[in-house]
Amino acid sequence: MEITKKHSFRGELSVPGDKSISHRGVMFGAIAEGLTEITGFLEGADCLSTIACFQKLGVEIEQAGGRALVHGKGLHGLSAPSGVLDVGNSGTTTRLISGILAGQPFESVLDGDASIRKRPMGRIFTPLSEMGASFQCLDAASFPEARRAADSGCAPFAVRGGHLHGIHYRSPIASAQVKSAVLLAGLYADGVTKVTEPALSRNHTERMLAGFGAEVSSDGATASILPGPKLEGQRICVPGDISSAAYFIALGLAVPNSEILIRNVGVNPTRDGIIRAALDMGGDLTLLNEREVSGEPVADVLVRSSSLRGITVGGPIIPALIDEIPVLAVLAAFAEGTTVIRDAQELKVKESDRIAVVSENLKAMGADVTPTDDGMVIQGGKPLHGARIQTAHDHRIAMAFCVAGLNADGETSFDDSACVTVSYPSFFEDIERLAAR
Ligand code: S3P
Repeated sequence: MEITKKHSFRGELSVPGDKSISHRGVMFGAIAEGLTEITGFLEGADCLSTIACFQKLGVEIEQAGGRALVHGKGLHGLSAPSGVLDVGNSGTTTRLISGILAGQPFESVLDGDASIRKRPMGRIFTPLSEMGASFQCLDAASFPEARRAADSGCAPFAVRGGHLHGIHYRSPIASAQVKSAVLLAGLYADGVTKVTEPALSRNHTERMLAGFGAEVSSDGATASILPGPKLEGQRICVPGDISSAAYFIALGLAVPNSEILIRNVGVNPTRDGIIRAALDMGGDLTLLNEREVSGEPVADVLVRSSSLRGITVGGPIIPALIDEIPVLAVLAAFAEGTTVIRDAQELKVKESDRIAVVSENLKAMGADVTPTDDGMVIQGGKPLHGARIQTAHDHRIAMAFCVAGLNADGETSFDDSACVTVSYPSFFEDIERLAAR
């Protein structure tokens, strides 16, 4: 895959469905009673991993053409899996499903790709063990042939469900995956379960579980849930993923003579940090036709080329743009002045170490960037040149550096561009369509 500079991006597009919401629709539908119909479902590799895992747990799921039909089994209707649950590259699948498996009367074994095998799972083992489930990490080098215990804190691991107790978990990190795992286990607990985060993370679980009939409530950065008694199948219309829209927001702002209308984007305030940051940078960005769909705020986003200035991002906005930091860093390289990204240590444990990988690739393109322990400092405004991008097989790195390459001199190539299928299979076609001829 090679990319060269394009001089303008114009037109309209709808980005694929939100990844976080698509995962949750399948998971909550699986443990609800009756049918859940999900439209706008993201047919990316991560959400397909979630479907495959629940099929192995005995749930009938049909999926085609952006629609998924989940024939729910109820809270207590899952069956012991026929084999290892393969979570692929998906941290959301791994951590959220573990919350559900913590409440099942059987053991399950989870494993995933090389990236998943390095990501920290202790963050869910701690609260879910406190509730009564048990976890055992397995030696990845010999798995699945031999099943030996390991203390890696990573996949592969076995989870054995137990009789769960409600807890009040004070999470050291703002993580929707941790919060969601604990709340889902809370459906199976014997009393109220609460999670308090240092800053509010995305709240799709709280919103969607309430729609399924769960007794869930929120007070600032604390979410609470009462056990069962049952969830009811829903119709869910998934909005476009703001994390996918972010690449087109960045292109529209950074490339001269551009105007892009992105229709049907989820703009939940726990996810809209990229919009707030782009406005702060001086970006010409307008939300149109704001509405609510399936309990989530949605809008059309209009972006036009802008002259951008550097900003400081840190504190409670970080969870609301954590997945957009790679493309925000690219945007910062095109802005005049200094951008400081801090309080984002979590970037180190995403699909790749995104502080290191973003910094190395930006440097390879001629940007002035200094990685720090919790983010990076970018002196923007230096023209970028093409380079060979090392994606670390991370979808968000490939897409962020595609944006960089489209506004850089010379040719940019990628060691792996297929990884975009994790969250945005039609990414390169959409780019090609909007590049004005
Ligand atoms: C997600 C939560 C975030 C995010 C991930 C999706 C979710 O992870 O980075 O892409 O769907 O709950 P953390 O909970 O680890 O911050």
